[in-house]
Amino acid sequence: MSKKGLIAYDTIYSSTNEVAYWLKALIGDDQHVEVKHFDQVISVAPYDYVIIGSYTRWEKPSKRTQKFIADNQRELAGKQVCYFLTCGDNDETMVLKAPGQTAHLIAGRNYLMCVMDQYPDIKPVAIGGFGGRECMPHLNRIDTFQVWMVGKLAKESAPWEGLEIWESLVPERVEYFANEVREKILGLPPRSDSEQLRWFWNSVQPANRSAADRHKYTPKKYEERMNTKKIYFSRSRIRGDLDLAVRLIGDWASQNGIDLQEQKRSFFNVYYHANKQYNGKAITMHVVAAEFVEDPGNVQLSFRTWDKPGVRKGAEADITRAEQLLWADGRKVG
Ligand SMILES: Cc1cc2nc3c(=O)[nH]c(=O)nc-3n(C[C@H](O)[C@H](O)[C@H](O)COP(=O)(O)O)c2cc1C
Repeated sequence: MSKKGLIAYDTIYSSTNEVAYWLKALIGDDQHVEVKHFDQVISVAPYDYVIIGSYTRWEKPSKRTQKFIADNQRELAGKQVCYFLTCGDNDETMVLKAPGQTAHLIAGRNYLMCVMDQYPDIKPVAIGGFGGRECMPHLNRIDTFQVWMVGKLAKESAPWEGLEIWESLVPERVEYFANEVREKILGLPPRSDSEQLRWFWNSVQPANRSAADRHKYTPKKYEERMNTKKIYFSRSRIRGDLDLAVRLIGDWASQNGIDLQEQKRSFFNVYYHANKQYNGKAITMHVVAAEFVEDPGNVQLSFRTWDKPGVRKGAEADITRAEQLLWADGRKVG
């Protein structure tokens, strides 16, 4: 008898709902997988495994999702559980420095770390941070204002500006997650025909009714450099894995008199503060390396400093040295 699964989710504007049904189809129509909004679930007892999905609000799964996990934590700890999120930001090398907050990792699976820390007895079999969708004309007034405000605060551009529908979902992440469920929970082979089901997400809605040439989804660039008054930011990727990146970043730090302080480490990424004095001023470079499921065999890198251009020149030069070391021996992927 096959295992009974539940996909329980929360949504406001329906994109998480779409992903829930897409996952059900990817896991397999021959499988017992029920899809329910949290409000339709009175008990998780009948299920062998539970996939919990949420949209992201203020860098966390929704409050209702957190309550669902809290209310069912004891039973969930005895079952196979997976977590997934839809979200706007999908680049798991992102560090955000918002006014009044310390800099911290955001985007994708990083938003799940709070529930994983809070409920350590629930050990998810798979986690996914997929990206998502925002349909701007239909956001309520408060959400419209908040999205506008985030755009004003963004130091690394606001890619949704000028769009009525903004999409950031990486379909390969949904497909990979469903295959993890098939393999790790159901003992089934991964699907090789997943792409046929992308119509679950690829609607024919235009990105903007008055500017038909605007694309609603443009994959984020892996390679970028930004040098503005607010930020020095560099993004690239190399062939290799997280362990290689950790080793090379450590070499860079010891060769250049940099004090490297690990801030966070997970199975898919690592975040460092790289501290050094330049002309008597202490500067922190924020360094992240991450593996993305849609880009196997490569590791993603980001470097940031928010100090003013006048004082950060030494850090910019050290970031260039880091890149020379990381990119050497043909490791850089264009
Ligand atoms: C007010 C507001 C706050 C949001 N906060 C975040 C956030 O902190 N991080 C993020 O990546 N996405 C954020 N999002 C994007 C949503 O999580 C994303 O659009 C999601 O796909 C919406 O899911 P739904 O259509 O199921 O409601 C926010 C969206 C709104 C409207």
